[in-house]
Amino acid sequence: MSAIERDVVIIGAGASGLTAATKLRAAGLSVAVLEARDRVGGRLWTNHIDGAMLELGGQWVSPDQTALLATLEELGLDTYSRYREGDSVYVSAEGVRTRFTGDIFPVAESTAAEMERLITLLDELVEEVGVTEPWAHARAKEYDRISWSAWLAEQTDDVEARDNIALFIAAAMLTKPSHSFSLLQALLMAASAGSFTHLVEADFILDKRVVGGLQQVPIKLAEALGDDVHLSSPVRRLEWSDTGVSAEADSVTVNARYAIVAVPPNLYSRIDFQPPLPRLSHQMHQHMSLGLVIKVHAVYETPFWREDGLSATAFSPYELVHEAYDNTNHEDPRGTLVGFVSDERADEVFKLSAEERRERILTSLSHYYGEQALSPVVYYESDWGSEEWTRGAYAASFDLGGLSRYGAMQSTPVGPIFWSTSDLAAEGYQHVDGAIRKGADTAEAIIARHQA
Ligand code: FDA
Repeated sequence: MSAIERDVVIIGAGASGLTAATKLRAAGLSVAVLEARDRVGGRLWTNHIDGAMLELGGQWVSPDQTALLATLEELGLDTYSRYREGDSVYVSAEGVRTRFTGDIFPVAESTAAEMERLITLLDELVEEVGVTEPWAHARAKEYDRISWSAWLAEQTDDVEARDNIALFIAAAMLTKPSHSFSLLQALLMAASAGSFTHLVEADFILDKRVVGGLQQVPIKLAEALGDDVHLSSPVRRLEWSDTGVSAEADSVTVNARYAIVAVPPNLYSRIDFQPPLPRLSHQMHQHMSLGLVIKVHAVYETPFWREDGLSATAFSPYELVHEAYDNTNHEDPRGTLVGFVSDERADEVFKLSAEERRERILTSLSHYYGEQALSPVVYYESDWGSEEWTRGAYAASFDLGGLSRYGAMQSTPVGPIFWSTSDLAAEGYQHVDGAIRKGADTAEAIIARHQA
């Protein structure tokens, strides 16, 4: 096995690791990026399935994601708006389908008023707690002790208002059941997007896509790094001391002054750290887990819903597919719908055969768009839970009580080992924007230490 010497070894060629590598090299440090998969991009992956170009992982860009927008600009990548003309659709607990415009679902006036009240209250709490150090807020422990669902139940007796507000964080963002994470974790999620209101505004949070797919960000970053990116090189062992590290991948060993572990936290324990990480790290890492969501892609000969005056934006906390959108590619004559099946519902349908699962999911889509939704020409489910080098989607969050207990330490380097991923970000947490921010910040921290 060959051994090479570098200033910094970066483990993981996702958006975060590649951003860090790019910044470090620009500052004159030598780097090697070791990537387990035979491709770069991690949770960003554009693939062709049965002749359709599909973004299997992350894809949307929102206006507050300024680090990602700056990277797109630097890399010369163009964006286009998600199709959003026409009515949205909501399906009630009774299965009644209603068309609507705007962001507040077509519910009883009293329920709509409750939703508005909760959104205002949550915006205030988000503002108070902030995005940088939610664990440092005076009431952090209190907010971290109560589950998102229990807190909502304390706020209102209106079950439909509760179910809808829960959806924006649970199924739609953290992709975990609303009883399994805290109010504080929910506030961090909203704060990372600027406000709770932003999560409610689909036109804001799911604003633009990149022509040709968002995976081009890591692809272009990796191209510029050239031979310093090593594919099919899972790091199995990381020896470390105060003076440096030695990262052993299957085909190469990199001896370096510093390491950046740029993988999601649920995968840290797959690396054999020698000596073992400190007790606190061992404990903390066990409280951070990925959510689970199936991203469903259904391609049709035409975007038939548009003729019916529908934007394809659809929501229901009561449907198997809790949200769905028009995901037609730039200048593509065919129409694509994307829908999401989250957490416990995903568990349920994964128990079925592939055929039964497809039928259940398409039936749910038909509740929003009618019978035509039942017959796509291409159908595909992104199943990130089965991906060895990810194991879930979209990203990691703490379990109840974990954020206030460990959050302050989650990014603290251990000797020469630094941590960088969207899962640890403040602004852009769980998103590509956060991956880029974290990569840039980590590179800066290493440069500062190197120069000290
Ligand atoms: P990421 O997981 O991408 O990269 C880590 C890399 O490390 C991977 O390439 C992995 O193979 C590698 N690795 C792991 N263990 C290793 C080892 N031992 N040795 C070497 N390499 C190792 N975001 C967004 O902004 N807009 C969106 O619309 C969406 N939507 C979305 C949908 C779906 C289905 C998913 C799964 C995710 C999203 N996201 C998203 C989230 C976004 O994709 C995600 O936050 C970032 O891409 C994460 O980038 P990182 O570099 O932090 O980790």
